[in-house]
Amino acid sequence: MRSHYCGQLNSSHIDQEVELCGWVHRSRDHGGVIFIDLRDREGLVQVVYDPDLPEVFSAAEHVRNEFVLRVKGRVRARPEGTVNPDMPTGEVEVLGLELEVLNKADTPPFQLDEHEKASEEIRLRYRYIDLRRPEMQEKIRIRARTTQLLRRFLDDRGFLDIETPMLTKATPEGARDYLVPSRTHPGEFFALPQSPQLFKQLLMMSGMDRYYQIVRCFRDEDLRADRQPEFTQLDIETSFLDENEIMELNEEMIRQLYKEILDVDLPNPFPRMTYDEAMDRYGSDCPDLRVPLELVDLQDLMQEVEFKVFSGPAKDPHGRVAALHVPGGSSLSRKKIDGYTKFVGIYGAKGLAYIKVNELAKGRDGLQSPILKFLPDSAVDGILERTGAKDGDLIFFGADKTHVVNEALGALRVKVGEDLDLMEGAWRPLWVVDFPMFEWDDKHNRWNPLHHPFTSPKDDQIDLLESDPGKCKSRAYDMVVNGTELGGGSIRIHSGELQQKIFKLLEIGEEEAQEKFGFLLNALKYGCPPHGGLAFGLDRLVMLLTGSKSIRDVMAFPKTQSAACQLTSAPSEVSMTQLRELSIRVRKPQSEEAS
Ligand code: AMO
Ligand code: AMP
Repeated sequence: MRSHYCGQLNSSHIDQEVELCGWVHRSRDHGGVIFIDLRDREGLVQVVYDPDLPEVFSAAEHVRNEFVLRVKGRVRARPEGTVNPDMPTGEVEVLGLELEVLNKADTPPFQLDEHEKASEEIRLRYRYIDLRRPEMQEKIRIRARTTQLLRRFLDDRGFLDIETPMLTKATPEGARDYLVPSRTHPGEFFALPQSPQLFKQLLMMSGMDRYYQIVRCFRDEDLRADRQPEFTQLDIETSFLDENEIMELNEEMIRQLYKEILDVDLPNPFPRMTYDEAMDRYGSDCPDLRVPLELVDLQDLMQEVEFKVFSGPAKDPHGRVAALHVPGGSSLSRKKIDGYTKFVGIYGAKGLAYIKVNELAKGRDGLQSPILKFLPDSAVDGILERTGAKDGDLIFFGADKTHVVNEALGALRVKVGEDLDLMEGAWRPLWVVDFPMFEWDDKHNRWNPLHHPFTSPKDDQIDLLESDPGKCKSRAYDMVVNGTELGGGSIRIHSGELQQKIFKLLEIGEEEAQEKFGFLLNALKYGCPPHGGLAFGLDRLVMLLTGSKSIRDVMAFPKTQSAACQLTSAPSEVSMTQLRELSIRVRKPQSEEAS
């Protein structure tokens, strides 16, 4: 049907007869000559229909946008003055000799060139049209190239691609499960995997030594730009490698990928930072190192000040008082600062105190701030000294529970960095290491695992499990690039005894542990090698590689913020017969029943 892709034609094809198939991107009638931009996966080419061939010309007159055509024609150089340097095929055009309409198209719900005018909802409903846009085609293509390169890297190093079940038991990764009712076991449910975590560990116990899988994972959690209910992991597990070996291998893979896709040289090795340092300096366990701003601790300076907003958290062992120094920030308007105050409110901050440093030489008179009157000279001097603020700078303050200050100032740091164009360097990867094993869950009054319950504590910290679990560090590591957590993993527990101890600490009783993870505890008895691995969020990786804002842009068929599919209208109701077969009776929430 076709001899060339539209987008591949260039001056080397001049005088050749070609057959093309594609979509009408646009058509124009220019004083008796019809120009059709024909589009396929590889790009656009201009096809010209001349009235000298009346039959074909008349067919060309009737084509509309998005019609599917088959065109036969001769490639020729564009006349002087009409070369289009912005188009890869811009030196040539095709003189149309034949035209067959393979299929007509209704007027599309949005023009490809004007997709920005269409809401995301419309674009997702007509995703097959949205995906025709060259920009989307490029993203999907980079995604395919990425998986190809990742596979090749791992295949070359002896990793086996092994599939694990989708209909399975819950894997605790901190989200809600998607459940699938069983017809053959009335009242019982499979869970779709939040990750293949337990199966990949079992594969190590089976002696597979090196496993990988590009695998769909399912998590029913609050959605954000970098979260989808079903997403793809590059999941990896190895035996007999320690965390350094695993991190080295994986950063080499990411370095090669960046080189091949973007021709970018990432640092070798990636810098490493402890979790504690990341939280202290950046208020985040996935810091964007392109932003040259840091949090500065003021805890000790604020113990005795009159200003309760500061002295309260300063004295609280779970509190933090910190500053964020913004060079050149004194030019920020009142309105802008009010906007930032609202922004930190999202993270629970009750306010956003600030000092504008207008002229240091004038002492207090050279400072401008709603809180200055509450602070003694010693505190003010300390703030200025510690932050190193100069004339024209601004200092923001956060005072609250530590997690609130970290989240609020951590997010503000990135926002201000973007707004004031302070970002330095294009790519700043790092490993965050030495995560705590657990975090305290205030709401349920218990410890939660920071990674997952199969993560090993550091060898020299096992005693802390009993004496001070909050201080116990794990053998977990996260790869962070430009503020996005790309992947994370850990060395796993390979002793049944230790695994049971961790379950106990997490208040998973013996019976529950047997019921949920009995198969793992059993397997640990029969010769389990030391093992560890990690998983990358493939969608996030491709989002970064393609400069996309959301992982939705790099998934062919993503879901909306409310975890629904606009295209197919899933989820949807099912017939009574199906429900009966599954022994399920639906009880809708009250509010819906009433309406
Ligand atoms: P974790 O839960 O950290 O670890 O997930 C690994 C990586 O998967 C990506 N990711 C997501 N991407 C899109 N949408 C989501 N809802 C989503 N949730 C997670 C992130 C994250 O870094 N089994 C462990 C890995 C291991 O220990 O080997 C796990 O799943 O990029
Ligand atoms: P107030 O005494 O509530 O009027 O607050 C005085 C200043 O402190 C205002 O600029 C508030 O935005 C700021 N502020 C109030 N609470 C906090 C807090 N928890 N952290 C940082 N600044 C705060």
